[in-house]
Amino acid sequence: MGLIDATAEHVRAACAGESSGHDWWHIQRVWNTARMLCAGEPGADPTVVELAALLHDIADAKFHDGDETIGARTAAAWLRSLGAPEDVVARVADIVANVSYKGAGIADKVTSLEQRVVQDADRLDAIGAIGIGRAFAYGGWDNRVMHDPDEPPVLHETIEAYRAARGTTVNHFHEKLLLLGERMLTDTGRRIAQERIAYMEAFLERFHAEWDGRA
Ligand code: ADP
Ligand code: NI
Repeated sequence: MGLIDATAEHVRAACAGESSGHDWWHIQRVWNTARMLCAGEPGADPTVVELAALLHDIADAKFHDGDETIGARTAAAWLRSLGAPEDVVARVADIVANVSYKGAGIADKVTSLEQRVVQDADRLDAIGAIGIGRAFAYGGWDNRVMHDPDEPPVLHETIEAYRAARGTTVNHFHEKLLLLGERMLTDTGRRIAQERIAYMEAFLERFHAEWDGRA
């Protein structure tokens, strides 16, 4: 079995049935989107893109006591166990290390063309109708309040503050999801994101109209 097929099987087994929105179907959507974006970015290495898309959530810091290096280390160990070339291991690990959103006030680090592609693919799955579904799924999984009109959103300036926050799910739209459109790194990703962000804005308007008894 090739590197990509073996990795897909491994990841599928590792995250099937996960209920915070980081399940195999999330990985599969990101994999498909990453392949599509990769086709529009001449020079991007499809093997690195596909492996990083498959492994990007293999071990997430927020599920491992805030260990920000665990994802890259886990991905690298897996690829080495398959005998992957060391340059592929390093390039995939770099993407896994840098793909995550770290708070409204913290700029993303752009390290490679392949990272742009995988990061955009992951973020496209956080917005639009699926993004709305995933946000409320995550909120329920993490015992968060759906909405509290007395609690304003917070634009976090440090990763520690962002990770420690216990904000509502509606505030997560303002603290992350609606900000992702500005942070897209490929032209195709940016175009798709614009439409998805507009859809989320309409959803929030309707949400608040119903909340306030105006609809
Ligand atoms: P990244 O993919 O940048 O590492 P996460 O794994 O934290 O980010 O987020 C992936 C998705 O999980 C988010 O787009 C959202 O749908 C959901 N999520 C994460 N944190 C929250 C939260 N505090 N409230 C609601 N949804 C969240
Ligand atoms: Ni993801």
